[in-house]
Amino acid sequence: MGQLDQKVFLKTFGCQMNVSDSETILSSLVSEGFSETQEVRTADLIVINTCSIREKAEHKLRSMVGRLMKMKTLKPNVKIAIAGCMASRAGKSLIKELPGVAIIFGPDQVSLLPHLLKEHERTQKPVVKSNFEDEAVLFNPDHRTYQAKTSGFVSIMKGCEHKCTYCIVPLTRGVEKSRPLQSILNEVQFLVHEQGLREIMLVGQNVNGYGRDTAFDFPKLLWRLAQVPNLKRIRFMTSHPKDCSQDLADCFRDIPEISPYLHLPVQSGSNDVLRRMKRGHQHEQYRDRIDMLREAQPRIALSTDIIVGFPGETDRDFQDTLDLITSVEYDFAFSFIYSERPNTPATKLKDDVPLSEKKARLFELQKIIRELSYKKSMTLLGTTQEILITNLKREEDALVAVGHTDTYKLVKAVVPLDTQVQDLIQVKITNHHESRLFGESISPLGYTHTKGHLSYDTPQHPTAPLQ
Ligand code: SAH
Ligand code: SF4
Ligand code: F3S
Repeated sequence: MGQLDQKVFLKTFGCQMNVSDSETILSSLVSEGFSETQEVRTADLIVINTCSIREKAEHKLRSMVGRLMKMKTLKPNVKIAIAGCMASRAGKSLIKELPGVAIIFGPDQVSLLPHLLKEHERTQKPVVKSNFEDEAVLFNPDHRTYQAKTSGFVSIMKGCEHKCTYCIVPLTRGVEKSRPLQSILNEVQFLVHEQGLREIMLVGQNVNGYGRDTAFDFPKLLWRLAQVPNLKRIRFMTSHPKDCSQDLADCFRDIPEISPYLHLPVQSGSNDVLRRMKRGHQHEQYRDRIDMLREAQPRIALSTDIIVGFPGETDRDFQDTLDLITSVEYDFAFSFIYSERPNTPATKLKDDVPLSEKKARLFELQKIIRELSYKKSMTLLGTTQEILITNLKREEDALVAVGHTDTYKLVKAVVPLDTQVQDLIQVKITNHHESRLFGESISPLGYTHTKGHLSYDTPQHPTAPLQ
């Protein structure tokens, strides 16, 4: 059977980088004649793009591979490939741990899968390739000739220069490497002009470190991308507080295409904990950055990441985190219990916070985060917002859209019947259920409808971790 008839099932865990990498993996396979299937039983090739950020993410992968191995006894020719950060972290040892896996490849080899498959066919042995590649392999502009989804994620860099003591990413993705400007421009132009996208999201573990040590930095990249005709919204994640400059804040004020929304992880409100995490900022400096951003762009929506129960975190430290969260008044936040990762510097610290205490802190924190989110969403009631339509569904005689505002609030709205995905439309926010917003187009709808009959299918926020 030639590859023309082959089907691939691809499952992605992890962050925005993995989502973008999965698109590259799929792109490389499609150009070799594969087609994607959503049904694992029909697949000839199964690719799992893994995450190592917390132990739980790795557990999920192991149990998934266990289930797939059972399936493989019924369908022995199906090939299983493990990609991503876990492949990079564990490399060869995964072959022992998960016998039957054909290919293990790291985040730097996402465009090389067809080549690795051929090697496996030739040798009939497991193939492992998870080293860090140089820029020439990483940013080959031909990698993404085909876009799988309409997400518009554009990877602008790889790796991370910071060395937060809890974090596995520097070990799985290596040092920072910035993608050449022309390669980024080519992809953005392709997405906007060929795929009709109005919004792109620049992704990297530390996007505002883009072009470090060169004359072309991240704010300059934003100015350049804003000149791309028909590109209406530019978002990016993740940004590090240490690299959050006045020039970046000015971009939120001066470039209309930059969405007024920033994800700026703080991790903790306690200076002692931040020091032990080696975050490179104290809570006062972080607060100054927030003030600088709000002064430049008062509409800016802010989100963050918090780790609770880091080794040595006292009640007082945790209270400092709660104080920071409530005083910043985030639009939303993601929170995690500290998970010890192999070979990270924090493994040397004594983890003296009992799990029951960590869970209680997480519970308390998440309650406050939900309240803040609710408060922020309510400020939009009665206002008119421009939403970018990402999903449309016919409900009886109405067309119902899901979209998001430029501050990344999800809105469900009844829209005119000729509305299309990727349209930007004006919506009046009329209603809510908890933090979820409902609205109606202020353009003529062409029919009458009953207010308040909409309900959500719980869309996932795209910045939320996938695992
Ligand atoms: N590069 C980004 C995000 C890194 S991973 C940044 O620095 O901001 C996403 C989030 O996972 C982190 O912000 C952190 O909150 C969380 N995280 C990372 N390592 C973790 C660990 N060992 N245990 C628990 N959460 C962790
Ligand atoms: Fe990890 Fe810190 Fe780098 Fe983020 S900045 S990826 S938390 S080392
Ligand atoms: Fe996970 Fe790797 Fe991203 S560890 S969070 S997939 S960079």
